[in-house]
Amino acid sequence: MTAVEPADAQDSLSEPFLVRHLVALGLAVEYVRAEGNILYRRGADGAELPVLDLVGGFGATVLGHNHPELTRYAAELLDARTPVLAQFSLHPWADDVARKLNAVLHREFGTDEPYSVIFANSGAEAVEAAVKHAELDRVMRVEALRREVEDGVREARTAVRGGAALDPAARAALTAGSAGVAGGDGLQDAEALERLVREVAEADAPHWDAPPVFLAAEGAFHGKLVGSVQLTHNAAFRAPFRALAAPCRFAPLDRPGRLAELAREERRTVSALTVADGVVGVTARELPRVGAVVLEPVQGEGGIREVGPEFAAQAARTAEEAGCPVVVDEIQSGMGRTGAFFASSLVGLRGDYFVLAKGLGGGLAKAAALLVRQSRYRPEFEMAHSSTFAKDGFSTRLAGRVLDLLEADGGALYRLARDTGERLTARLEGVRNDFKDVVKDVRGRGLMLGVEFHDPAAAGPPALQEHVRAGTFGYVLSGYLLREHAVRVFPTASATSTLRIEPSVHLSEAEMDQAESALRGLCRVLRDGDGDRLLAG
Ligand code: F0G
Repeated sequence: MTAVEPADAQDSLSEPFLVRHLVALGLAVEYVRAEGNILYRRGADGAELPVLDLVGGFGATVLGHNHPELTRYAAELLDARTPVLAQFSLHPWADDVARKLNAVLHREFGTDEPYSVIFANSGAEAVEAAVKHAELDRVMRVEALRREVEDGVREARTAVRGGAALDPAARAALTAGSAGVAGGDGLQDAEALERLVREVAEADAPHWDAPPVFLAAEGAFHGKLVGSVQLTHNAAFRAPFRALAAPCRFAPLDRPGRLAELAREERRTVSALTVADGVVGVTARELPRVGAVVLEPVQGEGGIREVGPEFAAQAARTAEEAGCPVVVDEIQSGMGRTGAFFASSLVGLRGDYFVLAKGLGGGLAKAAALLVRQSRYRPEFEMAHSSTFAKDGFSTRLAGRVLDLLEADGGALYRLARDTGERLTARLEGVRNDFKDVVKDVRGRGLMLGVEFHDPAAAGPPALQEHVRAGTFGYVLSGYLLREHAVRVFPTASATSTLRIEPSVHLSEAEMDQAESALRGLCRVLRDGDGDRLLAG
């Protein structure tokens, strides 16, 4: 295939560094049309050249590019001059989406508890809405505890005025903690109580104001905005921005128990005064500290890693013990790709919150949503949070239509995703069996698949070794597949040797043939150590 690169790609002003990289890797291609699983580029003679797209808009085109029913509907909406932006008015179409999502939750999790829906424009924005909602909830719980502690102080003062004594243990602690000052033993109860109130307030002050800590899985990807990037495990994305948002701690997927350990390590208590049987004592009260436990049921950007039922169960347990919500990030795994609408339903993990994006807008609109179960929903959030374009008339109507398509015929598309995924997986496993020295692993669920490659032998071409060191090996493989086989597939920045395969549910047998033969061609070149062929172009 002849590559026709935009003449000025080298001088791009939009992300110039990235574009130069794409040029160097043979990936600087302009697509001029898209349909189903095919993106079209223009050949030297001006004709369109089809490219099989296995990237699928980073997982967003669950229904394929420009699904005919959706493009027709989108055109109708524009023709009819449908209001797109009418904030602070009734949005029956947004409500329709919320009702449809609730019906899916009811079916897949068997729950009758309604979930309230907050709309957003992107995945990271929905994750940040979840983080903010969880923090509003935590802060409100902290404030409720603070009021209880203040009430306790008032009750203790009244009780001491009425003749109640200070608990000896509290007095002893006071003595020990008041070096150089007259010991608690020598004080009247009223004076000792005031000292106790002061010392407790001083000791607890940093705890009351401490930021929350979030818990997530190693390999997690939850976005790249200021707050969400702290939940993303890859240090290259996260670490430079550590000072900007609440921190997150990560547990390895194969050690679920680590989640509980982390929650224990982060546990903080404050002291509350209590009056019982005429004695004023001090009890430790647990401060709401963990903001949320956040989890993708199948990690995407982290290299396609399924979260096992044990880890999922531990995430739910840890959240419950810490009194915080479990946030299930279905931005990539959701919307039917794995064979169910919610991949989490396949491991029995019902989120207190869910986040959706990518496929929700049908590949045409930017739509995202945060779902919060009623028992944890804070209506105050609706005034605390807003976003000009969220919940707009165009994207929510399209989202409603996307949900209709997914839910049609008793969930035929979920079965299609599962069956197509199984057939594609069988082919990928076949490639691995024939090229065990080249392909390290095939994994995933439904149409969320990953093919991991062994690093090329150290004796291989030095130019290839350089790409391995630079983390661009997977992009070299992508360049080869595009150039030689007209197949578009990418690794991720966090799993540089794994190609992520996320076609639409309508992947045909012929497209599977093409994908398989392209991968076999790549494996042969890798086995032969033919660096020149891989890097040509
Ligand atoms: N959560 C998950 C699970 C994601 O996969 C992504 C994005 C996001 C959140 C953030 O969404 O990009 O709309 O702000 N994943 C892309 C990827 C970038 O490569 O998998 P966003």
